[in-house]
Amino acid sequence: MKSPLMDSDVILDVVGIGFGPSNLALSIAVDERNTGLPADRRLNALFLERQPRFGWHRGMLIDDATMQVSFLKDLVTLRNPTSDYSFLCFLRERGRLIDFLNQKTLFPLRAEFHDYFEWAAERVSHLVSYGSEVIAVEPVRDDTGRMTYFEVTCRDAAGSRSSVTYRARNISVAMGLEPHVPPGLELSEHVWHNSDLIPSATRLAASGAPVRRAVVLGAGQSAAETVDYLHRTFPEAEVCSVFSKYGYTPADDSPFANRIFDPEAVDIYFSAPAEVKQSLLDYHRSTNYSVVDMELIEALYATSYREKVAGRERLRFLNVSRVRGIRPGDGCGLDVAVEFLATGEQQALPADVLVLATGYRPRDLAPLLGNAAKLCLRDDGDAIRVDRNHRVATVPELTAGIYLQGGTEHSHGLTSTLLSTVAVRADEIHRSLLADRTAA
Ligand code: FDA
Repeated sequence: MKSPLMDSDVILDVVGIGFGPSNLALSIAVDERNTGLPADRRLNALFLERQPRFGWHRGMLIDDATMQVSFLKDLVTLRNPTSDYSFLCFLRERGRLIDFLNQKTLFPLRAEFHDYFEWAAERVSHLVSYGSEVIAVEPVRDDTGRMTYFEVTCRDAAGSRSSVTYRARNISVAMGLEPHVPPGLELSEHVWHNSDLIPSATRLAASGAPVRRAVVLGAGQSAAETVDYLHRTFPEAEVCSVFSKYGYTPADDSPFANRIFDPEAVDIYFSAPAEVKQSLLDYHRSTNYSVVDMELIEALYATSYREKVAGRERLRFLNVSRVRGIRPGDGCGLDVAVEFLATGEQQALPADVLVLATGYRPRDLAPLLGNAAKLCLRDDGDAIRVDRNHRVATVPELTAGIYLQGGTEHSHGLTSTLLSTVAVRADEIHRSLLADRTAA
């Protein structure tokens, strides 16, 4: 039966764009708070997700990869420790609570946390439309010139031509980051971004094509995981890790530095002057960017040393080096030109695959937001101005709300694109939505 929330004539309180962990956390906050309220006091929410079903970085669900955030920073616990949407409740339902505890870790497997997200998403599936890619958001102007709601248009992501338009007093934009491909390089059958690692490697393995050499560009967590994964998956292949640093930098997850991910740190960061914000980002960059878990660094080093001892080195580290270009290869798929930066010397590495573990970038929201983007106010650095409750500051005629989850590092700090504060942020947005509705 069609849910009443799917009726495109209704003006919804909030439409979520993207249904990753950020909007999933918000949908749970909405659902929990709606429970028991009379219909006229419930927030009407709908979340639009372009994937056919819930999926969190599926391309990097490497079997032994673990979370880099404590399970207590799940979708709900910091907002409501008694919520039955917690990771612990998930474990109890799966019959693994005691087994998990015996592991004595705060950091579950990434694949297990994915199952947890899926389990939670399933429970709020009445609020989600999958296979719905949002292609336009347009504020609607009334006779007085005021814009109190948006029209949000999405198309069937499976490729049918049909599109649906919803009306919403607020939107919560949580579309995540997009894979970064460095200038001069292009994705192809032989050149992948690590965000597609598992499906691409699985296809290659199934094709039976020989994999003699794989080159991985980058020195962050994803790069190190990719190197390790390819080395295990293709036992005949040489795996070359290319990066401009001298060696991998360990992630700083020490307790004092970790406080930069606390909800209170968001308050402090938000109210700090621009130069203090910048220095906080610079000081604590090594908690998140271009860094690798120490355990993985040590495991890779141990593998490489073991191979030295055995006299067959499949794992190679081309440090102080850059990929300068690629061209089609004779025997292998590619010739990768690698420059040793210390001398400028170049070598051509024949390779069957090049994986770009070159990070992610915030999405440009302007094309999606259309005219609404022009009504957003900007700060001195030309970034979108966002209030403490994650709501974009706009011209006064636009009273419909745009909430941003992600892409707000300039205003809210390092947690903007991470999981640490999703539960708290969902609470802040939910409260703001309620306050707005009461005021209207
Ligand atoms: P996320 O990217 O997860 O979701 C965005 C969603 O929007 C996607 O489902 C996408 O399909 C959808 N979408 C995009 N455009 C759309 C459109 N036009 N219409 C409809 N839907 C659209 N952080 C952390 O704190 N701890 C950790 O352990 C990790 N681990 C980790 C591993 C890997 C491999 C990566 C790549 C990243 C992490 N992260 C992380 C950081 C990561 O960004 C974070 O965990 C969340 O994915 C952020 O959730 P969001 O919902 O904001 O974005």
